[in-house]
Parts: sequence; structure tokens; C-alpha cells
Amino acid sequence: MKKYLVIGNPIEHSLSPKLHNYWLNKNQVDGNYVKKLLTEEKVGEFLKLNQNISGINVTVPFKKTVLNYCTELTELASISQSVNTIIFSNEKIIGDNTDIYGFEQSLKDLNFDGSNKTAYILGAGGVVSSVVIALNKLGVKKIVISNRTKNKAEALAKEYNLVVSDWGKIVDFDIVINCTSIGLEQGESLGLNFSKVKDKIFYDIIYKPKTKFLIDAEGLGNKIIDGKMMFLYQAQKSFEVWHGIKPEINKEVINLLND
Ligand code: ATR
Repeated sequence: MKKYLVIGNPIEHSLSPKLHNYWLNKNQVDGNYVKKLLTEEKVGEFLKLNQNISGINVTVPFKKTVLNYCTELTELASISQSVNTIIFSNEKIIGDNTDIYGFEQSLKDLNFDGSNKTAYILGAGGVVSSVVIALNKLGVKKIVISNRTKNKAEALAKEYNLVVSDWGKIVDFDIVINCTSIGLEQGESLGLNFSKVKDKIFYDIIYKPKTKFLIDAEGLGNKIIDGKMMFLYQAQKSFEVWHGIKPEINKEVINLLND
């Protein structure tokens, strides 16, 4: 039986094992998927020693850490400098990125057309490079980034050709994406004033619980998108990379995340 797992810290609440084991079962693949809590110092050792593992998903905060231990990177992992999927193949440790696909596909589903659109990114953490690359693939005209710690936004802006805006200032946008960790705890507020914004798209990478960012935006008449489909699509792509099968995303699968 092939072994798969997700590493992160914290990892207790990860829904990846539930999802992947469901798909392994449905597709009659002889494999098992578990979660593994690691500390930063242990990541390298773990990757080098565990050669009987066939694949690993990587979540917060190790998506950059693992770059150091991969022997190869796919093009998407390399341009994003972010790895969420590892493939063990012979002696190779191949780092891949399926978050880009996840974010891109979630918007394609909604027929989002990026041309002439301005995207406004909140935050400068690990997920932002994937979001930026996906937005570029969708043809977005302009990307503005704002982060509490401005120099982190400036570094990303330099790398990916973004415009930096001061934290707290609301710029004109067609779609705003919360890439901060604010909202993971129920009721947490970004403290930004979007009260004059309506008929725009508010996207939150967080999918559980429903964030105040989305609840407020919906109340003002905006379209809201949570991180559920991004999560499902990145998992679907990882599954396909590992097993050569594209598992189905249907109501039953979506409900797995709601239980
Ligand atoms: P990741 O593991 O995704 O890289 P991270 O680097 O901790 O996570 O990023 C979390 C993001 O949430 C950052 O953009 C962070 O802003 P800072 O760079 O200023 O730390 C943002 N964030 C966290 N708490 C915040 C708060 N109370 N107000 C505003 N932004 C916050």
C-alpha cells in the first residue's frame, strides 16, 4: 500500500486526509493518506529519511521550507517559490505547486475574465505568489498588494511587478482577495473599511469558518467566494499528479468539507 501524507504546523484541522482517503477509496487506489505534525527543524530530515512515502502535501508554514530539500522543482513551483505537493520518484524529491491551479480553476468556474480587471491582494504570506501567478494566467490587468508589514509587500511587488498600497487604504478594484490569516478564528476582523464597496468580488482563501470579511461584503451586495473550491482543486490536481486519475468533485465531495 502506497503512503501519502500532509505535513504542516498546526495540522490537526487539515481536511486533506479525509478528502484524499475518500478519493483513494472511490478510485480503488491501494493507498493511505495521513497527517503529520512537524517542526521547522525536522522537515529536512523527514523528507530525506522517508523514502517509502510516495507523495506529500505541504501546508502552512512549510511551503517555502521544503524548497531546500527538493531535488527538482516543476516550473510552477520554481516561479512561485512555493511547494504544496511533493512527488517521490526513484531517488528524486520533486516539488510541485497545485495551489496556482486551484485558485485559477476556482475563478474559471465562475467565468471570471481578467482582462481590464484590477485585483487587490491583502497580505504577503506564503499563498500570495500562487495567487499572483494564477491572476496573471487569468489575464488580470493590474495587481495591487497591501500588507500590514509593508516591506513584505514591496518584496513581492518587485518580484512579480505589482503595485503596493498602504495598509488601511482602500484602492479601486474589481476583485479583492484576503490572503492574510485574519478570519481563521471566528469573527476576527481585518479592520479595513469596505463599506462603500458594492458589486465587486470578495474572495477569501480561508474556507472555514465563513469569515467576517465575506459576511460583511455579502451584506453590502458584493459577490463572495470562499477558499473551498481552491482547496478542492489543489487536492484534485495533487491526486492526479500522484495517481494519474482526475478524481471527481461533486456534491458528496463538497459535503465532506462541511461535516
Ligand atoms: P504564511 O504561512 O501564509 O506565509 P504568514 O507569512 O504568517 O503566513 O502570513 C500571514 C499574513 O497575514 C501576513 O500577510 C500577515 O501580515 P504581516 O506580514 O504584517 O505579519 C497577515 N496578518 C496576520 N495577522 C494580521 C493582523 N492582525 N492584521 C493584518 N494582517 C495580519
